[in-house]
Amino acid sequence: MHAHKFSRRDFLKSAGVTLGASGLIYTGAAALGAQTQEPEFPEPSFGEKMMNKRILVAYASKAGSTAGVAEAIGRTLAESGVQVDVRKVETITDISPYDAVVMGSAIRGQKWLPEAMQFLQDYRVELSRKPFASFMVCITLSMANAGQYLEGLKGWMSPVRNLVHPVSEGYFAGVLDFSKVPFSLNVLAMRAVVLSGMWKEGDHRDWDAINAWAKSLPPLLLS
Ligand SMILES: Cc1cc2nc3c(=O)[nH]c(=O)nc-3n(C[C@H](O)[C@H](O)[C@H](O)COP(=O)(O)O)c2cc1C
Repeated sequence: MHAHKFSRRDFLKSAGVTLGASGLIYTGAAALGAQTQEPEFPEPSFGEKMMNKRILVAYASKAGSTAGVAEAIGRTLAESGVQVDVRKVETITDISPYDAVVMGSAIRGQKWLPEAMQFLQDYRVELSRKPFASFMVCITLSMANAGQYLEGLKGWMSPVRNLVHPVSEGYFAGVLDFSKVPFSLNVLAMRAVVLSGMWKEGDHRDWDAINAWAKSLPPLLLS
């Protein structure tokens, strides 16, 4: 099958077509009517303290869905007998205690969040000396035909790959919940894509895929 990049142009085109068809007033009113709920950013630790291997699962998340993915990855990693700390990037001040790092970010505007890229820049040298795995969470992967976009989506992780080389990369569908994101023009455009039928609101996280990826990591990270 031919790999097709889901480009910004495709996105704007579908957004534009739908906005034209449905009218700004309807979409704007729907957006303004939305309640913004506080997202949650858990920072659990898993596994026994006396385990001699420690893994950091660092995440960047705006509305909380990537936090949930990071937590699931941490819990699954701990099943292999390692100690795991799941932490939001902004709260991490020292990565020296860790034998390996797994790091993921939500995608906004086809990029990892700025705080995730900043963390990568700040710890680049230290991260390059440790086994490192990266993942991203986005809504394009929730599309029925997501497989044909995967090659293009891998490009969104190029800036990460260029700074620190991952031993493995995870690509996961996230959550589209307009009650968790403050209104912006980007969100208005996303509502239009939903109206076009390309994206659906809801929780699209595939826990089996997430846990399977996490299970594949210990041999790569701790060999
Ligand atoms: C303002 C905004 C921009 C987004 N941009 C993209 C994008 O370019 N491509 C994509 O596939 N998903 C995009 N998404 C969807 C998010 O990646 C998805 O909702 C993800 O689950 C959010 O993670 P979080 O809950 O951890 O913040 C965007 C979401 C928002 C709110």
